[in-house]
Parts: sequence; C-alpha cells; structure tokens
Amino acid sequence: MCGILGYTGERQASDILLAGLARLEYRGYDSAGIAVLSNNTVKVAKNKGRLRVLEEKLKAGQDISGTCGIGHTRWATHGEPSDINAHPLWSDDMSVVAVHNGIVENYREIKNMLANHGYAFYSQTDTEAAVKLIDFYYKQEKSPLRAITQAIKVIEGSYCFVMLFKDYPGEVWGVRKDNPLIAGQGKGESFLASDVSAILHDTRQVYYLDNMDIVQLKKGVVRFFDTEGYAKHKELSEVTWDAQAAEKGGFEHFMMKEIHEQARAVRDTFGSVFHSGKIDLSDSGLTDDAMKNISQIYIIACGSAYHVGAAAQYIIEDLAKIPVRVELASEFRYRNMPLSRDSLAVIISQSGETADTLAAMRLAKQNGIKTLAIVNVVGSTIAREADNVFYTMAGPEIAVATTKAYSAQLIACYVLAMELARVKGTITPTYYENLIGEIQSLPEKIDEILDEKERLSEIAAKFVNARNAFYLGRNIDYAVAMEGSLKMKEISYLHSEAIAAGEMKHGPISLIERGMLVAGIMTQKNLSLKIASNMVEAKSRGGFILVVAMRGCETLKEESDFTFYVPETDEHFAASLAVIPLQLMGYYVAVARKLDVDKPRNLAKSVTVE
Ligand code: F6R
Repeated sequence: MCGILGYTGERQASDILLAGLARLEYRGYDSAGIAVLSNNTVKVAKNKGRLRVLEEKLKAGQDISGTCGIGHTRWATHGEPSDINAHPLWSDDMSVVAVHNGIVENYREIKNMLANHGYAFYSQTDTEAAVKLIDFYYKQEKSPLRAITQAIKVIEGSYCFVMLFKDYPGEVWGVRKDNPLIAGQGKGESFLASDVSAILHDTRQVYYLDNMDIVQLKKGVVRFFDTEGYAKHKELSEVTWDAQAAEKGGFEHFMMKEIHEQARAVRDTFGSVFHSGKIDLSDSGLTDDAMKNISQIYIIACGSAYHVGAAAQYIIEDLAKIPVRVELASEFRYRNMPLSRDSLAVIISQSGETADTLAAMRLAKQNGIKTLAIVNVVGSTIAREADNVFYTMAGPEIAVATTKAYSAQLIACYVLAMELARVKGTITPTYYENLIGEIQSLPEKIDEILDEKERLSEIAAKFVNARNAFYLGRNIDYAVAMEGSLKMKEISYLHSEAIAAGEMKHGPISLIERGMLVAGIMTQKNLSLKIASNMVEAKSRGGFILVVAMRGCETLKEESDFTFYVPETDEHFAASLAVIPLQLMGYYVAVARKLDVDKPRNLAKSVTVE
C-alpha cells in the first residue's frame, strides 16, 4: 500500500527520498511525490504513475534542492490516481505540507467546518482535509506540536502523517494511528518510514512508533510526544536482518527468488521453535497448561493467509480433535458471532498490518478471547497488539504475491496442531516424533520439486491465451486448490476458480470448455478416487487435465494430460509440497504473458485499508 518517508540531515533529501521510495515500490502504488523544505520554502514534485517519471522530471531540471524532505508512493483510496491527488498535499500558503497513509473517515465534516472558515479544496483526497485542518490549528497555535495534538483530536480513521512546516526548517513531523511508522536514527541525520526496508541502507537504529505517538525529527535527533504534547521516552532497537535479503539475488523476479527461499523459510520457522530435540512454544505464550484448556479455535485471516487457515482447519481437527472455524477477517469483523471464552483466536498475517485482520483481532480481544498472531513482520501492529506472537521466519517478502510467507505460515500451523495434539493426548508419542521428522524433511522435498520446475514452464506456455481455469480438491487439497487458483489469477490475470470438487456437479461443470485448464490436487489417499471421478467428468467435457499428486498415487495416470508428482510426506503436511508446482504455474503463465509478475495490477502488498 502507500509508502511514506521523511528525511532530515546533511545530504540532498531528494536523493534519499527517491532511493527509499524505490525500495517501497513493491507495496504497490499509482503515483509518487516528494517535497523539500529549504530557506523557509517548500518545493513539491509529484505525478501519477511510476517513480521513474518523477525521477525524469527532476533530472530535467525541476529544482528541489534541500536537506529536509518527505516522500510518498500513493495507492489511491479517495480520488482517482492523478497528479493533483498524488501526495504531498499542502495548505494554500504552503505552511503545512504532508503525506498520508490510511483513511480520514470524517473528511467531509472536516471540509465543511474548514469551508466555513474560508478554506477551499483543490483535490479529491481525504488527506487535503486533514492537512488543512492541521494548518487551521497551526495558524492559531504557531506550533507544529500543538497543531498536531489539536488536529488528531478531530481526525477519525486510520492514519500516518509525515509533515513539513514551512517556518520550521530542518524539521520533519509525524504521527500515526493504525498505520505503521518507524523512525530511524543516523549520524547527523534522521528518518521516518512506513517500512523499515526503506531506510535500512542508511541506518539500522530504529524506533517503532505506537498508536498516537507524535514524532519530531531534527538532524540526528528524534523526539517523541504523547497526544497531550508531553515528551515521551522510547527505546531504540537495532534491526538485525540483512538488507541483501531484500534484493533479487540473481533471479529475474522477486517472486521466483522467494519461491526458491521456501525451503529456508520452512527450516528457519521450524528451527525457531525446535530446541534440543523438542518443540517449545512457550515464547509464543502457549504453555501446556494454556493449551489444555482450549476447546475451540478461530482462525482469522485474509487472502493467502486465509488459505493457510483453511488447510490448518483440517489438520488441527484431525490431529488435536479441537473444532476449528476459519474466518475471513473482513466477514468476521462485522458478524455478531457468539464466541466461547475458552477459545483461541489464531490471527495469520504476513505483513501484520492488514486492516481487516487487525480489526478482527481487536474484536476477538474485546470479547475476551486470547489471540495468537502468526506474523512475519517483526514490530508490526498485529504482532504488537496480539496477546502472543509466533513469528514466521520467511524474511522480507517483496513480490506482491505471497509464496514463502505462505509456506512459513503453514509450518507454524503444523506445529500448533502437533502441540495441541500432544497436550490433549490425541496422537501417540511415536506418531508425534514421526511428524517432527516429516517437517524436518520438507525443505529437501521442496528443493526436489524446484529441480523439476522447467517441466512446468513448458506446460504453462500452453495457457498463454487461456481465459479460464478450475482448481479442484477435497479436504487439505481444496485449501491448496484455493491458493493455487489465487496465484494463477492474481499474477497472470487468467480467471480461475477453486472448487471443492464435490461441488462441481452443482453448477460449475457447465463452464467447462474444450482446452480449459482443470487442475486437480490429489494428495489425500482416501479421497483420490473421489477426485479422480470429478477430473474424468471434466476431461470428458474437453478439459485439459493437470494433476498434482503425491508420488505413488497412480489413480489418474491414464486420463491426465499432465501429471506432476510431489515427494511423499505425511498427508497432513501435503500442502507444503503440492502448492509449489501451483505457484510455479501461476508464475510461468504470467511470464509467458509478459506481465509484471512482482507488481500485479491493482494489487498492493500490504492492505492497510478495508
Ligand atoms: C496473495 C496475497 C494476499 C495476502 C493478503 C493478506 O498472494 O499475498 O492475498 O495473503 O492480502 O495479507 P497479510 O498476510 O499481510 O495479512
């Protein structure tokens, strides 16, 4: 989603801002802009479209020199993508210039109030209302801090604002509510960013802002204030992960690089909870006593993270015999569901910032339900607000379409299922030990699948002009079908649907046409005959039958047009292997169609508005 930056120091702000915004490109955006404050004048350059358009404009001679500035990549919410609506936005005399992530929900009321005081508006954005509200208080208070504290008493919604005040040279101000913002401390310079990867090349010393923290940057100095304007102390943290991890490392796309990082992500995620031959979830607050009392689990997430939950539902129910409901966060948050107190809400999110997931988690907490967040981004809002956190060890995921974070989330769910089963005594110690061995062997098996990826690249070329695809599965294979189908549609724009195979005859079968891709997932032995008959029905109506099966399953050998075997594993963990060829199919079809694999149209990496 939108990216935000602020800088003050000795270097040219425009260079730092453009480089930092380029590192945030992966979040998805439709316009970009920067503002620089120098000699009590703020200069702005911004436009609809890619950052490179902005860079070209600056190279062509637009003067934007100065050592204090702010920058933004915008993903439109209010007002179409356009030069005018791009950030930064300003008050009429340029006293206040700001960039914003999030949504000002009461912007109409604010505009009406300001209109009564003579303000006029030039953009369609909610942001302009907030900027002018800050300006309104600034004109009365003559102090950035007091203007901000007044304005945030009025502004409703979620936001992160980063601001310049014309009369305060060398200063950048920020405030956040439900949108991420971190401050970086360098030597003689300081930074603000919505994402740590934007400033990691410049500093590793960061402060994580809490909701409603106000921050002031001066050269090399970072100060914090509360909503009443009182100074507040915050701890400096050191970021330890590697900036190199955020670069492509020889692959054509981040997505392919991240597909290849899955073995590592799986190994590291399991390794983080497996110490001296034992799984230990006590760091995640899951002691044996806490787990014994859990009688119901809600898994709440969006998109691919929801698909992880869908697989986990089958696994937890089967291994631990605890009823599980998997809920789309966007639905859960607006339902009046009776929630049982002895339940656990498992919140799954790569970014830890997804607006619906965060709201659903808060709702669960309000209802007195314990929350466990399975999150990839350390220090993200969900991670900080959850009662307990299980961090996945996928590392920074840059491609918009998730792969390695999905795989790491599955491992966290396997571990949770196994631990619940152990504590409840629903599986034998021997089987528990076998499962540990199976998890440990997954990385090697994932790499084995990747060794065969060229076969999928050849078959994907067949579907370069295809319009529709079906992905069929039952049980865990249905969860995998959902993820495979999403991977296909989101990056290749080939319309695809995942169908619980038993539902085919209840309607979808009427859509099958000659040559249509029908992918069947077959890793669950007891269901292989069932799904085989659904696939044969699709074939007899002209479908191109692609089967992803566990080695040893020969059921559709004769009928299938193309079969990809994955190595054998315990069926509970089959999603970790079956998903890999499906990720590759989506990737190769997108590449064959010459699409922007890492930044699919209309999508954002982190969906921080509902
Ligand atoms: C699809 C994808 C999305 C995310 C979803 C949730 O490839 O990446 O569907 O899974 O937006 O995001 P997080 O996990 O950050 O909450």
